[in-house]
Amino acid sequence: MSLMIRNGEVVTASDRYQADLWCENETITAIGRQLKAPPDAEVIDASGKYVFPGFIDPHVHIYLPFMGTFAKDTHETASRAALVGGTTTMIEMVCPANNEDHAKVLDTWKSKAEGQSACDYTFHMGVSRYDQQTESQLREIVASGISSFKIFLAYKGAFEIDDASLFHTLNLAKELGVIVTAHCENGTLVAELQRALLAQGCTGPEYQDTSRPPRVEAEGVHHLTTFAELTGAHIYIVHTSCEEALSAALRARSRGVNVWVETLIQFLLLDKSYTEQPNFEGSKFVMSPPLRDRRNQPVLWNGLRNGMVSTVATDHAPFDFVGQKDMGQDNFSLIPNGIPSLEDRINLLFTHGVVGEQISLNQMVDVGSTQAAKLFGLFPRKGTIQIGADADLVIFDPNYRGSISARTHQLAVDYSAFEGWSIQGRPSAVTVRGEVQVREGKFVGSQGKGRLLKREPNHF
Ligand code: URP
Ligand code: ZN
Ligand code: ZN
Repeated sequence: MSLMIRNGEVVTASDRYQADLWCENETITAIGRQLKAPPDAEVIDASGKYVFPGFIDPHVHIYLPFMGTFAKDTHETASRAALVGGTTTMIEMVCPANNEDHAKVLDTWKSKAEGQSACDYTFHMGVSRYDQQTESQLREIVASGISSFKIFLAYKGAFEIDDASLFHTLNLAKELGVIVTAHCENGTLVAELQRALLAQGCTGPEYQDTSRPPRVEAEGVHHLTTFAELTGAHIYIVHTSCEEALSAALRARSRGVNVWVETLIQFLLLDKSYTEQPNFEGSKFVMSPPLRDRRNQPVLWNGLRNGMVSTVATDHAPFDFVGQKDMGQDNFSLIPNGIPSLEDRINLLFTHGVVGEQISLNQMVDVGSTQAAKLFGLFPRKGTIQIGADADLVIFDPNYRGSISARTHQLAVDYSAFEGWSIQGRPSAVTVRGEVQVREGKFVGSQGKGRLLKREPNHF
């Protein structure tokens, strides 16, 4: 299959230029002006549009047994939503509970995605326990092409890892040259603060932030960075929500710790007042770490501008308002944590980041794609536009005007955290390895096109 994309403005993390792109055998094979195409080639006219490398979401949950229920999307619905929103590669968290066999859990996660995903994908391998069997499984998992781990310092009795296991996991990561992604909140403090609030009759979703305040997140970051400092492991703090946590990461970086920081589109745009909405509507915005005070947003945007924050992910974790979020009607600690945002990340980043003059177009590509590709062993196959790279391309129409709604989204969840929000610009066409999967903003592709990507350890 061959594809010509004509007259677009190519935008990578470092460059902007007018060019045609010629794609054959799944990759970009020529870049230039007025390239010649055979008469039977598919041609997309990208005049007046940007051509971005496919965006990478480095933190999603699709199959997720969690808090007594399951996240709502399948790989079919999630990958369609990702593509319509310009994301062509997803990195999903494999989340074993600490009493589970890690290799078996990975097999389950793989089986959910295989043949179902319309976009390419890979996994961060969760580690919630460290013993001899787990160690040898992790060595095999890394050798098989899954070259990053995920640990949780929170979620007691489920995904939370103890300190001895954490120490050994980081030592192994250092030895194998893989990066460890981490949910940083002190699980003991969360459990005690939840107990105290509930005992006082504080049961509503608005207490999510009070039960996991910024210091609890910053303590988690400090805790992990101390372990990384002593083991030399490379770490990546997921879903950083606040100034306190970012400062803890940057203090560690100034001591020489190899730490990178992710934030989420929702932390840049939503704040904790959303959890105060009446009629339990606030539960739609319950996640961990929680939405914070608005004062944190300029800190996070500034972090993106100056490279202190490397990536903008979604932590997509969709639970229906009716039938799932309402499991915590009388107790906020039972509200399944997470929000849907996979479909909207790039459109919101363009509207509020680029049009809103917080970041440049190049920075949008960097934080939405290139940095994740580099950190997680996908670059330059993914994350940029160059000869030999996979032809994952987003032809983005900056003149489109529309709005976000659960009535029109591809996701399987019954609400949108951004209901009614306006967007300026959207992907008009999206390709995965040279095949058009989205046209005029609609999914037209083949379900099952997506491949599990093998990644080598980075060895940094
Ligand atoms: O609230 C969240 N973030 N839910 C998904 C699980 C996690 O902590 O990433
Ligand atoms: Zn998390
Ligand atoms: Zn997550």
